[in-house]
Amino acid sequence: MKDRYITVALAKGRLAKKAMEMFEKIGVTCREMEDEKTRKLIFVNEDLKMRFFLAKANDVPTYVEYGAADIGIVGKDTIMEEGRSLYEVIDLKFGKCRMCVCGPASARELLQNHTQIRVATKYPNIAKDYFYNRKHQTVEIIKLNGSIELAPIVGLSEVIVDIVETGSTLRENGLEVLEEVAPLSARMVVNRVSMKMENARISRLIRDLKTIL
Ligand code: PRP
Repeated sequence: MKDRYITVALAKGRLAKKAMEMFEKIGVTCREMEDEKTRKLIFVNEDLKMRFFLAKANDVPTYVEYGAADIGIVGKDTIMEEGRSLYEVIDLKFGKCRMCVCGPASARELLQNHTQIRVATKYPNIAKDYFYNRKHQTVEIIKLNGSIELAPIVGLSEVIVDIVETGSTLRENGLEVLEEVAPLSARMVVNRVSMKMENARISRLIRDLKTIL
């Protein structure tokens, strides 16, 4: 039987670029994708019978869960937030950062005393899980879509749950890390059915990637 295409969904941006560099090292290339001006949405390597597409990070787990993509490359933050049913198979070790509870130093006390505070975040599910299930602290979660650090500065919330990479956004805004929720990095995820049906090809890909990590 002729091989079917293995489809890979990549989270748009830096992550996709890094992932394609990794794939290239193991001989999985996609020339079509290198043209930065293209408006094409899907890129094919006919020899390898592989297809690649770029999607908004939050949509990658959705494509993979439904099997529209066999494989996804996406941040652990998105995997945790989306809570989809899929296999997380490799930590790709790039895009390393941390999900943290941050705020002004004065908020430390509010966390210790389990005061009912407001938490602003782009990641309501991660924040809910952390405060309710791990800390057993009742809080009010406020969903924002960006520049989360603004929230405690203008008085929308006492703390935030957000990604910290270098820590410079926090520093420049008089905020600090108060608690660590989880370490993050790019991961490869696989659809549950694809893992069985395409086991040979996907296992080989995983094995090859592991040799360059
Ligand atoms: C992310 C994150 C922090 C910042 C952390 O924001 O939400 O704001 O990067 O990086 P640092 O610790 O190196 O300063 P991003 O730039 O992705 O944009 P956003 O504000 O729209 O979330």
